[in-house]
Amino acid sequence: MEIHKVGVVGCGLMGSGISQAAAVAGFPTVVRELSQELLDRGLASIARSLAKFVEKGELTAVEKAQALGRLQPTLALEDFADCDLVVEAIVENLDRKKELFAELDRIVKPEAILASNTSSISITELMTATRRPTRFLGLHFFNPVPLMKLAEVVRTVATEPEVVQLGLDFARRLGKTPVLTTDRAGFIVNRLLIPYLVDAVRALQEGVGTIEDIDQGMKLGCNHPMGPFALMDLVGVDTTCYITEILFNEFRESRFAPPPLLKRMVLAGMCGRKSGKGFYDYADPKNPKVNKLLQ
Ligand code: CAA
Ligand code: NAD
Repeated sequence: MEIHKVGVVGCGLMGSGISQAAAVAGFPTVVRELSQELLDRGLASIARSLAKFVEKGELTAVEKAQALGRLQPTLALEDFADCDLVVEAIVENLDRKKELFAELDRIVKPEAILASNTSSISITELMTATRRPTRFLGLHFFNPVPLMKLAEVVRTVATEPEVVQLGLDFARRLGKTPVLTTDRAGFIVNRLLIPYLVDAVRALQEGVGTIEDIDQGMKLGCNHPMGPFALMDLVGVDTTCYITEILFNEFRESRFAPPPLLKRMVLAGMCGRKSGKGFYDYADPKNPKVNKLLQ
């Protein structure tokens, strides 16, 4: 089997990036959102990102137009019927994902592969919502997808070796370097990254340093491209919080426990860059200022 046509469910931060990468790699790509407004917002961010690559001379204007032309935006799940691979990138919530996979399983052809971009939910558990355990795997991309080079390919005890190979090849076709991992919550990267991020919140609450000083410390002290608070704002404070809850439920270890401040920020709508405010305020996106309400 070969992958010719790709589907992506969700056109938020990750779904838009995965759709963009698939379209640039030459795949006709169906992308679905819940409303026309959300779809338009996702497509606008793809167009902006492609424009940056054109500005930098990494894509031509023609290649940009061709990539946009390969995208088939839709509100209807039925449009995934003839896709060979469908990657799910909706909110990090087990029940919502299982509901979606059960529906997708009824719609896509029997030989199609279903994949989840989940950060932390068990791939095996998502697989149980379908009747295709052998053709189900995790394809975990990193944010921002157009720039990040890694993809984790997650196999379960039931994933067929041919499907794992197709997952690895697909990641490479998108210009990513794949690493293979088994289905343990958080896989490789989030298992190590999330305790670090939540520890930064605890350090802030213990008065170890300000948001700006902790971020500066990790940038200049460890050569990280951004500090932990800027990174949580990029990932989404909501998504970071959901991931910590899932990892904590899985492992019951305090290093994964969601700090109360994260939960309260989500309740207050401070979800990071995507909502305009998180640990920083993005009223002027090129010049974020620390969110004074948290100090
Ligand atoms: N598309 C195209 N180009 C983009 C872009 C996008 N979406 N975003 C930024 N760029 C370009 C900019 O145009 C800019 O280009 P020039 O250097 O030519 O000017 C360049 O990338 C740098 O952009 P910024 O000036 O905005 O710099 P930045 O430092 O704010 O952002 C970054 C760049 C790639 C995000 C970098 O800061 C970085 O690598 N940060 C860490 C990201 C990271 O760790 N991601 C993993 C998160 S965890 C995860 O994803 C897993 C999970 O499950 C939660
Ligand atoms: P997001 O909130 O930016 O986008 C999720 C989108 O999914 C929303 O636009 C929502 O309207 C849409 N959606 C919800 N249900 C849908 C459905 N049934 N059909 C179509 N669209 C639907 O979230 P995100 O950051 O893109 O995260 C998506 C997934 O990717 C999550 O599982 C997350 O854990 C994972 N992930 C996130 C990051 C990150 O840094 N944000 C990195 C890697 C993986």
